[in-house]
This record gives sequence, C-alpha cells and structure tokens, in this order.
Amino acid sequence: MAKPLVMLGAGGHAAVLAEILLEQKQPLIAVVAPDSIPANSPLAGLKPIASDEQLLSTYSPEEVELVNGLGSIPGNNLRWKLFEFFSAKGYRFASVISPKANLSNYLELAEGVQIMMGAQVQTNASIGKNSIINTGAVVEHDCKIGAHNHIAPGVTLSGGVITGNQVHIGTGASVIQNIQIGEQAVIGAGTTLVRNVPAKQTIIPAASRVLKN
Ligand SMILES: CC(C)(COP(=O)(O)OP(=O)(O)OC[C@H]1O[C@@H](n2cnc3c(N)ncnc32)[C@H](O)[C@@H]1OP(=O)(O)O)[C@@H](O)C(=O)NCCC(=O)NCCS
Repeated sequence: MAKPLVMLGAGGHAAVLAEILLEQKQPLIAVVAPDSIPANSPLAGLKPIASDEQLLSTYSPEEVELVNGLGSIPGNNLRWKLFEFFSAKGYRFASVISPKANLSNYLELAEGVQIMMGAQVQTNASIGKNSIINTGAVVEHDCKIGAHNHIAPGVTLSGGVITGNQVHIGTGASVIQNIQIGEQAVIGAGTTLVRNVPAKQTIIPAASRVLKN
C-alpha cells in the first residue's frame, strides 16, 4: 500500500504536483512551507510543517515518502540539494505522473521523476532520478535523460538525445536527433540545437539575420 506523501515546498511547481496527486486520490497529507498557504491553492488544507527540521522530527523515512515540490531554474540547485539531503537520511521520493501525459509502456523511470500534463514520452526512453518533464514537452524514442534534469514546458527532444546530470533545457527549445548534452549545461529558451554541447556550457539562440534582401 502507498505510503502517505509529504510535499516539500508550496510554490507554483508544488501546486501543480499537488493537483495531479489529489486528482489521482493519492494520500498527500502534509506540506513543508515556512509561510501560510493561499486558500485557493491545491495545497490548502494539508497539515502544515514549518521547516525541514520539523519534518525530520515528525515523520521517519519508514512512515512517509516525499514529493519534491521545488521548481528548477538555471543557476539554482536547491531542488537537487533537497533531493540529496533527504535521500542521504533514508527518505524515498515518490514519482508524480500526470494521467494527462502520454507515455510509452517501454520506459525506464527513476525515483522521483515528475511528468506533467500534455508531456509525451516515447518508446525506450529513460528519465533519471528527480528529473522534470514539464508541461507539453516531447521526449522522443531512445532519449536518455540524466538525473536532476529540467526539460521545460514545450521542449522537443528528437530521438536518441542524451543528457548528463543537472541539465536544463529551456522553454520551447528543440533538439535534433542523437545530440549529446553534457552535465550542468543550460539550453536557453527557444534554442534550436543541432550540435553536441559540452558540460557546463550555456547556449542561447542565434540572433535573427538577413538571408536575402
Ligand atoms: C539562457 C538563460 C539561462 C540565460 O539566463 P541569464 O544568464 O540570466 O542571461 P540574461 O538574462 O542576463 O541574458 C544575457 C543575454 O542573453 C540574451 N538571452 C538570454 N536568454 C536568451 C534566450 N533564451 N534567447 C535569446 N536571447 C537570450 C539576453 O537577451 C541578453 O542579451 P543582451 O546581453 O544582448 O541584453 C535564460 O535566458 C533562459 O533561457 N532560461 C530558461 C528559462 C526556462 O526554461 N524556464 C522554464 C521555467 S518552468
């Protein structure tokens, strides 16, 4: 039987995850948030926990599973750090998969993966732990997504794309087939990526230029 779930964080990403979990009637019981929760949030009404320390003293790793409600933007590694901090203490992270995502039956999904509404993940893809496949993103066949990635809303990854750990692929970017992206690389929103990217590089789209006059 599924363990009760505790949400870490109460921002926009956490609210989206909570809506998915509540729609699936999953046992989401508490939320770690230092501030009060707005009444119109899907997180309203859950047991509030003021801090990570209070969570540690309230629920043991045997009693609950966690949901990583922190969003992820380039240059901020709090989401990854939170996952590692609680994993080292023996907690497990639940995956959250929207019933409105379209998933192949032939996938490898690691611990704590989050796949949002409208995302499509095709045959023989794999998604590393704590990675987000955000709203409407397409992950084509045979893509291998590393741990702690954020594949942002509307991204298209063609077949066979491979990413290292902690990669961010920004909103609406498109990546052609078989591209390799090194760890901690950032692909800026709207980029069309047609070459491999080394670790830690940040890429933005080329400026528009005149081709004919
Ligand atoms: C690539 C990115 C990380 C760069 O962020 P940054 O280091 O803070 O860069 P800045 O905003 O200071 O911009 C630096 C320059 O790059 C340009 N630039 C930055 N991102 C760009 C993009 N995606 N496309 C085109 N130009 C871009 C800026 O216009 C600016 O140009 P200027 O120096 O001529 O004024 C960021 O712009 C981005 O695309 N983030 C992804 C956002 C995302 O996916 N969000 C999802 C949330 S769910």
